[in-house]
Amino acid sequence: MKVTVVGAGAVGATCADNIARKELCTELVLLDIKEGIAEGKAQDMMQTATLLGFDTKITGSTNDYTKTANSDVVVITSGIPRKPGMTREELIGVNAGIVKGVAENILKHSPKAIIIVISNPMDTMTYLALQSTGLPKHRIIGMGGTLDSSRFKYQLSQHLGCSPADLNAVVVGGHGDTTMIPLIRHATWNSAPVTNFLSAEQQEKIVKDTMVGGATLTGLLGTSAWYAPGAAGAALVEAIVRDEKKLFTCCVALDGEYGQKDICLGVPVTIGKNGWEKIIDFKLNEAEQAAFNKSADAVRSMNEVLKTL
Ligand code: LAC
Repeated sequence: MKVTVVGAGAVGATCADNIARKELCTELVLLDIKEGIAEGKAQDMMQTATLLGFDTKITGSTNDYTKTANSDVVVITSGIPRKPGMTREELIGVNAGIVKGVAENILKHSPKAIIIVISNPMDTMTYLALQSTGLPKHRIIGMGGTLDSSRFKYQLSQHLGCSPADLNAVVVGGHGDTTMIPLIRHATWNSAPVTNFLSAEQQEKIVKDTMVGGATLTGLLGTSAWYAPGAAGAALVEAIVRDEKKLFTCCVALDGEYGQKDICLGVPVTIGKNGWEKIIDFKLNEAEQAAFNKSADAVRSMNEVLKTL
């Protein structure tokens, strides 16, 4: 099994670190356009192999895509991250060109790869990757909802005083501060609805804090977060290489599911060896569906910007 992570910035390197620690593949390539950075981080990580006890072989490359040949899974993290006060959407002009070029280069050498998109604005970058490569839709997976759902569980755990691992909770819709929809009505603590234990004010606060989860960290860190985004990318790689059929919220191409078409948006899907395999219908109520449609409208108008670039 071979995995490539494109972009050796904080998110890409953290993702690679998690993949190696879990020994999700025998060969792991880290690639970046910045001279030496991927080689340096790969070597640094390899020097933890005896300390952490993993056997994955990590190599770095400065923009030489031949090194990525025959990858089974490729994670794209390339592009500029947002700065405090910026929205993910503001990155579209710069990141669209980068992501399109990366996807094309990857497929030249790994025509069978499953692609995970992390670059922002993630919903539009996933749509762009799908449109520009013409790959079967199951092989393009946007990571956003996996991260947002993990942040949602964190917020819930803080209010419930429980382990986040005991929670089931998903965020659907776009990966934007105003487009994501934490489905609190569907969230459970083991099997009990979390709404049994939370006041209306608490529920409102949890939803709000989840939606601005990334922006809050950007404010604190001065750049966007990396531990949870990197771990979310690695969790998807794990589900693919181990053929787990695990349920994640991912940004995938919709063809009538959840009432939407010609768009990539976050919905619950199973992830396995073929990429995303099945879309699970959570049966949204009227208010949730209205929010989902509104989110789709916002993402669609962002996708329109691609035509002007
Ligand atoms: C975040 C970025 C990675 O939400 O989109 O932290």
